[in-house]
Amino acid sequence: MKLLVKNGMIATESQVFQGDILIEDEKIKSIGTVLEEPDAEVIDATGRYVIPGGVDVHTHMDLQAGKYRAVDDFYDGTVAAACGGTTTIVDHMAFGPKGCSLWHQVEEYHRLADGKSVIDYGFHGVIQHVNASILGEMKEIAENDGITSFKVYTTYDDMLTDDEIFQVLKEAKKDGIVIAVHCENDGVINYLRKTYRESGCTEPKYHPLSRPARCEAEAVDRLLHLAAMAGDAPLYIVHLSSKEGLMEVMKARASHQKNFAVETCTQYLTLTDEMYEDPKEGLKAIMSPPLRKKEDQDALWQALKDGVIDVVATDHCPFHFGKEKQAGAQDFTACPNGAPGVEERMRILFSEGVMKGRITLPQLVQYLCMNPSRMYGLYPQKGTLLPGSDADLILLNPEKERILTHADMHSAVDYTCYEGMAVKGEIELVMQRGHVIVKENQFLGKKGDGKYLKRHKSVLAE
Ligand code: URP
Ligand code: ZN
Ligand code: ZN
Repeated sequence: MKLLVKNGMIATESQVFQGDILIEDEKIKSIGTVLEEPDAEVIDATGRYVIPGGVDVHTHMDLQAGKYRAVDDFYDGTVAAACGGTTTIVDHMAFGPKGCSLWHQVEEYHRLADGKSVIDYGFHGVIQHVNASILGEMKEIAENDGITSFKVYTTYDDMLTDDEIFQVLKEAKKDGIVIAVHCENDGVINYLRKTYRESGCTEPKYHPLSRPARCEAEAVDRLLHLAAMAGDAPLYIVHLSSKEGLMEVMKARASHQKNFAVETCTQYLTLTDEMYEDPKEGLKAIMSPPLRKKEDQDALWQALKDGVIDVVATDHCPFHFGKEKQAGAQDFTACPNGAPGVEERMRILFSEGVMKGRITLPQLVQYLCMNPSRMYGLYPQKGTLLPGSDADLILLNPEKERILTHADMHSAVDYTCYEGMAVKGEIELVMQRGHVIVKENQFLGKKGDGKYLKRHKSVLAE
């Protein structure tokens, strides 16, 4: 089947121009200023931006986190993603049972996602302990299952120590694998959480105080040094939230360290720690790292403008406010960490970023589409509008406005952190591999239509 998307304002990573896109057999066949194809079905894109489908490389669908399970499985979560203009996810696996092999979670995640995801998907592996056989499995999994990135944590119960992370980074360098890292200083956080708890300071407002920005900065700096000592091993810093953390990144950029990339998330660009002031509602925003201050937001936007940060993701990890989050009602340290966001990202970045002049539309394409694809071995199949790429795209009408509200959203969770936010720019159509899967906020796709993506090497590992 042939489709011709006609007369749109096509937004690529480098320019915006009036033109047409011809689609055949799920791929982009050609892209140009005026294309004719008499036997193609025509989609009129007049007055709409045509943007590559979003690539969100930080989600946690169906995540088991201690006693709690994130409430979006791979069906609900990917329907929400699709309705928000995201057509590809790379999901972060949960920790497995103590001492398990890396294959354990790989197999578990195929069971969780296969037949459910409505958009194309991949996985990041997770490393929770280190020995010779774990190090050997990294290469095996990358080669056999196309999982070319693994995540490690510097905090939480299944964190790795510095010597373990160093071994992982050295192995990653050898194998051409990217190591994604959650950077926070575990010792200080645990001490502060315990101190607040023991002195009765248990309201949500103590959550950000127990995880200061310098905890992030210290771990970012440490990881950059460890990666450098491992021969500039491919390193990807997830969910950077603070100005202090950013300063460490800038130091490494100034010293020309190679092979690292940095991600921030929608929430760190648009929400602040004032959300924690309300002792009840504050639970909605308990996530790690925590929300920061206006000056952190400003620094992160500036970094996007200057190209210091590479990716904006979501860390989508939803728990019901009316249920799981209430575990923190008497003590914030008992609240499951994480918040929804996969559906909100494209709308918010377009409105708060492009429409407010903080970033350009080609920069939005870089941060939400092309860079995540390049960092994680999906380019040029995903995240771009090149001939031969998958025909994943969205039509966005910049003239329409909407008030974000949970009632219009598709995640299984019972709230959005962005309730009441006015956003300019309406996603009118979402296409995955040439099939229209969303129209006017209605999901039209089918459960299980998403394909598993075996990924190549990242540009960080070339
Ligand atoms: O609070 C968060 N971010 N929960 C999800 C797990 C993680 O740290 O990324
Ligand atoms: Zn994290
Ligand atoms: Zn996460």
